[in-house]
Amino acid sequence: MLILGVESSCDETGLALYDSDAGLLAHALHSQVAMHQDYGGVVPELASRDHIRRVIPLSRQVLTQAGRGFKDLDAVAYTEGPGLAGALLVGAAFAKGLAFALGIPSVGIHHLEGHLLSPLLSGRPPVFPFVALLVSGGHTQLMRVNSVGRYELLGETQDDAAGEAFDKTAKLLGLEYPGGPAVSKLAEMGRAGRFKLPRPMINSHDLEFSFSGLKTAVLMLVRSQPSDAATHADIARAFQDAMVDVLVSKSVAALKATKLNRLVVAGGVGANKQLRAALDEGAEKNRFEVFYPELELCTDNGAMIAFAAALRWGKGLPPIDPTFSVRPRWDLAALG
Ligand code: KG4
Ligand code: ZN
Repeated sequence: MLILGVESSCDETGLALYDSDAGLLAHALHSQVAMHQDYGGVVPELASRDHIRRVIPLSRQVLTQAGRGFKDLDAVAYTEGPGLAGALLVGAAFAKGLAFALGIPSVGIHHLEGHLLSPLLSGRPPVFPFVALLVSGGHTQLMRVNSVGRYELLGETQDDAAGEAFDKTAKLLGLEYPGGPAVSKLAEMGRAGRFKLPRPMINSHDLEFSFSGLKTAVLMLVRSQPSDAATHADIARAFQDAMVDVLVSKSVAALKATKLNRLVVAGGVGANKQLRAALDEGAEKNRFEVFYPELELCTDNGAMIAFAAALRWGKGLPPIDPTFSVRPRWDLAALG
């Protein structure tokens, strides 16, 4: 089965070809980061227009790379939600149109399910059940993953997502969008311990998160301190240390609560080096295993969408149907 995956939920156009026997054949990505940088964040209308420009050339590119043609496809998978409505519509319209023209099924995939299952694409895939820490720009959730499509929400952020907190901290420190990689790089030069920021809800005895207070604490710190490079690096370090402490502590608590010993980390923030190092350390200390997607598949990509569709294949595919909708808001735990 050859599946074309289309991801267009935010600021990356991702296309990929996944073969259920041979695995991932090709994937290609166009990041809109440079385009949105002038505005300090994603401009939804510009995102949609750029997805339109990229989606057909990128799909040709992955097919050529794999030595295949449109006629070889058995299905087209696309991100149905959650995400920016206009951006989602581009991928959905393309996927639906292509599938209908080829007379093959199309499958709408939940973006977070894509992230969640992406470590299964790596050389060392986890087995079910496991706990997943989903940390992206829009979501911070702990899920119990029983099997494909069976996801139980254990806890989530009450306000800002982890990636959002990275992005806002970056802005406060005068760094460019997207903030995660920029804050992480700056934090490497910072000294630990000069500033201590709060670890919100770390002792709340549940699996919920909250990051808006941490963002406010960063704002107060930035305002009250000199704005030299060394101070900014120390603030970045203090922010990241607080964030990593909370994410590790809650992940360990989720493993204890579920009595599971496998943790999957997915979503853009999962690319964070310090988070990975702290989780690896926590795994050794608390005797659990951590699984990550390949680094290039941590942030948004088409491979995870094609792959999730391949795993869903066993559950039966939807009939060929040219009508479609997108779901800018979509609860992962409601999937079947
Ligand atoms: O999963 P993703 O690519 O898109 C969403 O579905 O949101 O995640 C994007 C988020 C952004 O907030 C970005 O700043 C953050 O992931 N991110 C990072 C790193 N790389 C990306 N955060 C911390 N450290 C990183 N290395
Ligand atoms: Zn994502």
